[in-house]
Amino acid sequence: MNFYVLTLFPEMIEQGLNTSIIGRALEKGLLSLKTVDIRNFSENKHNRVDDYPYGGGAGMVMAPGPVYRAHQYVEELIRNEKNTAEFTGGINITGHEDINDSNTLKTNTKKTRVIYLTPQGRVFNQTMAEEFAKDEDLIFLCGHYEGIDERILEMIVTDYVSIGDYVLTGGELPSMVMIDAIARLVPGVLNNDVSAEFESFQDNLLEYPQYTRPEVFMERSVPEILLSGHHAKIEEWRKQQSILRTANTRPDLLEKAVLTSKEKKFLHD
Ligand code: ADE
Repeated sequence: MNFYVLTLFPEMIEQGLNTSIIGRALEKGLLSLKTVDIRNFSENKHNRVDDYPYGGGAGMVMAPGPVYRAHQYVEELIRNEKNTAEFTGGINITGHEDINDSNTLKTNTKKTRVIYLTPQGRVFNQTMAEEFAKDEDLIFLCGHYEGIDERILEMIVTDYVSIGDYVLTGGELPSMVMIDAIARLVPGVLNNDVSAEFESFQDNLLEYPQYTRPEVFMERSVPEILLSGHHAKIEEWRKQQSILRTANTRPDLLEKAVLTSKEKKFLHD
C-alpha cells in the first residue's frame, strides 16, 4: 500500500512514521510513504504558500496554486508507478499512451482518494480505517494556518476527516494517526498470529486487561484465573472484563455491542 502526504512539514511525517512496526513494514516494502513538500510548488519568489483571507479575519490561508500543483505531481507519480508496474508485469502498454484520458482501462482512470485532515470532517474510526485500507494508494493533504482555499478543496478532496473534536495546529499528526491505523491492517504489517481483525472495536468492546511476568508485582497478583490453564474459563473472564470496561468508560460503544443473554448478566454480577 502506498501513502502520499502533501505537507509543509515533510520531515515531521518521515521521522514520525519511520520507526517501530510501520518503519519495519516500510523497510520490507509492504508499505511505501512519499512526502511532498507543498512549498516546492510555490511560484512566489519567497516560496510563500499562504496569503491573507478575503473578507478579512485573523490568520492566513493556504493558497490554491501550490496545493493544486503538488497534487498534480503526486497524481503523475502514481500514474507512472502504475504504468511501470504493469510494464514490468509483462503487460505491453504501447499504444495506450493516452491511457489516463480513455475509459478503456478502468484501473488507470480511477482517481486516488485525497483525504483532507480537518476538524470539520467525519470523525475517524476503525470502520473508516478498514474502508481506506482497501485502496492501493492514498493521498493525505495536511493544512496549516486557518486552512486551505476552499476552491482547491472542492476540486481535489474526496474525504474530509477529523481525528477528534479538538483543534490541532496542522494536519500532520492527524495524517500520521490515520496512516498508522490503516497501515497495521495491511496483511503482513503486524507479525503476530492473531490478525488485527479480531481485536478492539471490531465487536464494539474494549480490550481486556493483559498481564505478564512477574506473577506478583509490588504485592499485586496476576488474576488467579489466568494461571489456571483453563482456556474456556479464561475466555469467559476476558469477555467479562471487556464488557465491564466498556460499560465503565464507553457506554456509547456498549449500546452497539451484540451480547448474549449470559454476557448481559456480567453487567449485573
Ligand atoms: N487539523 C486540526 N485539527 C484537526 C483534527 N482534530 N483532526 C484532523 N485534522 C485537524
